[in-house]
Parts: sequence; structure tokens; C-alpha cells
Amino acid sequence: METTSARRLAELVGDLGADRPPRYAALATRVRLLVADGRVPLGTRLPAERDLAAALALSRATVTAAYARLREDGWATARQGAGTFAALPAGPDRGAWVPGPVDDGTIDLAHAAPSAPASVPTAFAAALTELPRYLPQHGYHPGGLPELRARIADRYSARGLPTTPEQVLVTAGALHGVSTAFQTVLRRGQRLLVEQPTYPNALDAARALGVRLLPTALEPEDPGAWLDTAERTLASARPAAAYLMPDFQNPTGLLLDVAGRERLARALRRAGTTAVIDETFAELWLDTPPPPPLAAFGDGHLSVGTLSKIAWGGLRIGWVRGNADVVRRLTAVAVRSTMAGPVVEQLAACALMDGAAAALDEHRRRLREQRGVLTAELRAHLPAWRVPAPPGGLVLWCGLPTPRSRALVSAAERYGLRLAAGPLFGTGHALDDRLRLPFTQPPDVLRTAVALLARADADAERYAVTDGSGDRSPSDPVV
Ligand SMILES: Cc1ncc(COP(=O)(O)O)c(C=O)c1O
Repeated sequence: METTSARRLAELVGDLGADRPPRYAALATRVRLLVADGRVPLGTRLPAERDLAAALALSRATVTAAYARLREDGWATARQGAGTFAALPAGPDRGAWVPGPVDDGTIDLAHAAPSAPASVPTAFAAALTELPRYLPQHGYHPGGLPELRARIADRYSARGLPTTPEQVLVTAGALHGVSTAFQTVLRRGQRLLVEQPTYPNALDAARALGVRLLPTALEPEDPGAWLDTAERTLASARPAAAYLMPDFQNPTGLLLDVAGRERLARALRRAGTTAVIDETFAELWLDTPPPPPLAAFGDGHLSVGTLSKIAWGGLRIGWVRGNADVVRRLTAVAVRSTMAGPVVEQLAACALMDGAAAALDEHRRRLREQRGVLTAELRAHLPAWRVPAPPGGLVLWCGLPTPRSRALVSAAERYGLRLAAGPLFGTGHALDDRLRLPFTQPPDVLRTAVALLARADADAERYAVTDGSGDRSPSDPVV
């Protein structure tokens, strides 16, 4: 078994003085990069904490915390009595992409997860006032609380897709809705058409079912080309299902117009393909409202929504809308794992939906401002990048002058900036010339982040190693 001496590892780690605090996180990052680029080979036993602390003139607690972080993130494993060993995190289909710790001093531009607006605690106060009416009952509502299903149905009707409460299943967020839909309409070995790039956790949900992915390239610069590809793929492969985001697609921000929806719905109908339409960003239009939901253009499709991006991810409230008979099948699938959703959260969701119009106006105003700041800062500090201004959603899908997004992720981490590399959003290793940047943080944080990003971009050349940092690790969530 190979061992790294404390002195050797300390030499490789170098001076942490210039790295962003906290010190333990900086040390963990340095060791992670050494493991990633092979200077500390996999399986190497790392020095005893006390020895490394002495060699680096750090406290033992700092080294203990750094090793703990490495273990949590999958970059080290501990064997009882034998020590700590360098490791690689689980592969993309084994680790979940979910946001990491919030208090580690890093700026997170990997995840598009807004903090809760003031309406959330107010909604919970209202929910607690309502709760006593429900306490004499058993509390299980497998399809969702009737009053919440009714509100969600009304919202669809208002958007141009007439809907009754029986056509709605309440889920624990959009991802639960997507995976419940996949489990209901797909069997192992069947084909699923996906946009490329797309939302990584949906890909994982599909992979876990053993379905075959059919990626269709979506170029923001040439959105019409995707429609041609999708039509051809639907006609030739006749996939059982298609996972689509016609409303401010994550990550490209693309919006499909009415003519595009009509063409797509026609191609789906001819192929006998059920669309699982992820509308997570649909209400986050920033310029003009989108056309009616894609499901209004063809029968039998499933629409997935959530309160995560218009209110707060911590609510864990989402839904699936479809024909009533399919919703009954979806409900049976969901019950197998969740029984029913939590009553208080669903009551809070009702209150949030009642006040959604005003809250969304304010949310959109803030997002517009943040989109403006992020695009302006990027264009000023990184003029070689292609920086789009999407008409809605929460993210920019930037084009880099050379394929270096993985290298950029590693370089940025040393400045305390967490990024998600382009390849994360694809089915293979492509997209290293892309970087998704959310504009969910306040303007001052975005300005600081872009300054750090510009420094990291200058370093990216130096760190251009295949370090796997674009792959998901257990603590690297994608939302
Ligand atoms: C396109 C898309 N679908 C689903 C989700 C998951 O949403 P939820 O938190 O409601 O499960 C996200 C989160 O970012 C997303 O961007």
C-alpha cells in the first residue's frame, strides 16, 4: 500500500495563506486537486492527522475537519484502524447532485436555488392556523390535499390548459414528479428522448430505471435545429417518452414559440411518444409571458411543476398534471415510496399560491435586476465569453472561448467559488466549452463572484487537468 509522508503531502499542498478561508476547506480543496490530477494516487494512505498538522503548521482540528470534508465528498475513505485513503467520488449515476453545505464560506454559482422570500414564513403561519381543522382526520392524502390540487388545477386553466383537481398529483418537488412520471410511463430498456444539455438529476432518474437515453442537441444559437433533430429522432426511434423543457429550458434558457409547440406536439403524436414536460422555470418569464403549456397542444402528456423556484426549494412541493386515469397510475407509483405528502407544507403551499401573483412580480423584478448585473459583469470582465441574456429562468448558459469548464471549476474552487461544469448537463463528455451560471444571488454577491471568476479563468490554463471535478460528487447537488 502506497503511503504519502506528511512532509511530501505538505510540499504538494504548499502555502495555504493566499487561499480563501476557512483553512480546513482550503486544505481539502488542495488535497482534492492532488488526488484528481493523480499526484496523490488513488488508494494512497494519507498521513496521520497529527503528522500533517505538524508539517503544515496547522491545528490538528483543521486537518481533522479537512479529512472529514474529503470523506464526505467522496475524495477519501476511512478504514477502521488503518487510516484515511485517497479515493474518487462515486460516478455521476451514483451520487446525487444536490446543493452542498451553506456555511462553508464559498459562493455557490453551481446551483440555481433562490433563498426563501418573506412570504414563506407568513404562509407557514397561515398553515398552522388552518392545521387544527385537519387534526381530527387521519392526515393521509395520497394524491395531495384537495385544496392544493384545486389551486394547481386553476393555475393550469388560467395558463390555457383546462384542468380539474383529479388531473393533479402533488409530489415532493419537481424531481419527484419527473421520476414518478418516468416510472409510470417507461420500462427498462425503452427509449427516452432528452434535450442535450438538460437537467442532470432527471438524467440520473432515467438512468436508474435502465432506460436508453436519446440525446438531441440543443444549440441556443440555433434553436430551430433542435426541432428538426427532435422531429427526425421521434420519427425514426419512436421513443416511449421524451423529457422536455419548452419554457426557459434549463440550462439554455430557450423558449419554444407557438409554432414550435405545434410542430413538436404533432411529431410526438405521430411517434406515439408521451412527453414529460418539466415546467420548473415556466412561471419565471422575465420579458414576456410564454405561450400556453406544451400539453395544451397535444393530448396525453404529463406536465411537471414546482414551488421550488417561484417560492422556496425547502418546501418540497411540486406536482404532475395529466389525464385523470394516468394521474391515478402516477398516484399508485408515488404511494409506493411516499404514502402521501406532509399536510402543513401543503397548507403553506395553498397560502403561497393565493398570494403568488404579487410575490411573483417582486421575484421577477429581482431576477431581472440580477440577470442584468450578471450579464453586464461577465461581459465587462470576461469579454471573450459568449454571454446570453435568456428571456426567463434562473441561469445563463455561457460559451467559453476554449473547452475549459472543468478546469475552471477546479481553479474557481481555490477562490471559494463553486461552479458546475458544462459536461454535467450532458449525457457524455461534451459541453466542456459551456458554463451554467445562475443569477439567483443578490447583485453584490454576483459582482464578487464574477471578479473571482475572472481570476479563476486566468488560472484555468494552469489547472487544465482532467480532474473529474465536472462530475458529480455526493455533496455536489444540482438544482
Ligand atoms: C429543470 C428542473 N427540474 C427539476 C428540478 C428540481 O426541482 P425540485 O426542487 O422541485 O425537486 C430543478 C431544480 O433545479 C430543475 O432545474
